[in-house]
Amino acid sequence: MRDTSDSVKGPHEQGADEGVRVVVVGKGGVGKSTLTAMLARSMARWGARVVAVDADEQRNLGATLGIDLDTLAHIVPLAQSVEYVEEKTGAKPGDGSGAMLRLNPDTSDIVDRLAVEAPDGVRLLTMGGVQRAGGGCLCPENSILAAAMANMRLRRGEVVIMDTHAGVEHFGRALARGFDRALVVVEPTFNSVQVGLDTARLANDLGIETIDLVVNQCRREGDLDTALSCLDRLGGFAFSSVTELPFDERVVVSEPSIGELLDDTPLAKAIQALARRLFSRTIDEARRDDYLSVGH
Ligand SMILES: Nc1ncnc2c1ncn2[C@@H]1O[C@H](COP(=O)(O)OP(=O)(O)OP(=O)(O)O)[C@@H](O)[C@H]1O
Ligand SMILES: [Mg+2]
Repeated sequence: MRDTSDSVKGPHEQGADEGVRVVVVGKGGVGKSTLTAMLARSMARWGARVVAVDADEQRNLGATLGIDLDTLAHIVPLAQSVEYVEEKTGAKPGDGSGAMLRLNPDTSDIVDRLAVEAPDGVRLLTMGGVQRAGGGCLCPENSILAAAMANMRLRRGEVVIMDTHAGVEHFGRALARGFDRALVVVEPTFNSVQVGLDTARLANDLGIETIDLVVNQCRREGDLDTALSCLDRLGGFAFSSVTELPFDERVVVSEPSIGELLDDTPLAKAIQALARRLFSRTIDEARRDDYLSVGH
């Protein structure tokens, strides 16, 4: 019998909803993939069972996590996984003929079947073609993407963290059904804050409970204030928390993988502080205070 003890569980299963389900959003190029990969690997090093989901059709997350190029070249995204899509929905990807589709199939085996192993034990699930998920098209690949997203219910110690393409409107309600937390990434620039704010409001409208702000690529003192004052000028937003991340030249030097940045860079430390706050939500309450005070 297959051991599914470390799998992403379906919503109906016992102990569901005790994990952490985070979606990372923001304007193009602000650092979403870098942050997602660093959070994922940091939490995995502390013992979390982490599934990193790449919902950006440009598919950068695997390389950023440190998966080798040969493995990456062989990844078949969920939307193109013919056998899986057909088994679950009753129709093949690309079959938009209006055949009867199962619209909310059970995707609780998705990680076991389709994820690829990344360093530190993170598992990568590549969505592919998600730009229309939740939209009007009732084709099998959209049905499976929406179901996969909406059915992310986790047990204690499990984390799903999803990297997205700029803008999340295409996800629609499936996003809020699958994720309870959004990290809105901005740089200290007016334009990125404006996009971040729009995204935060949309996430809020969709019903995502907790929305955090991450101000990335801060080069000098005052950058955080610059971002916050842009936010004020645009009408403000009640973010649950604000995290400042420094600009670090080594990110660019070590591209595409963030593997070498995880140990003792100021950026890693700031990201670990954020990761600790996210991850502490999924460990036993009794252990939570110890965990947060000792740090990792
Ligand atoms: N804190 C940082 N310090 C220095 N460089 C950074 C930092 N964060 C990200 N970068 C660099 O900024 C660029 C964009 O980062 P990344 O690819 O993570 O952004 P993204 O939001 O995922 O972009 P896209 O929207 O294109 O997917 C990359 O070259 C990355 O190495
Ligand atoms: Mg990216």
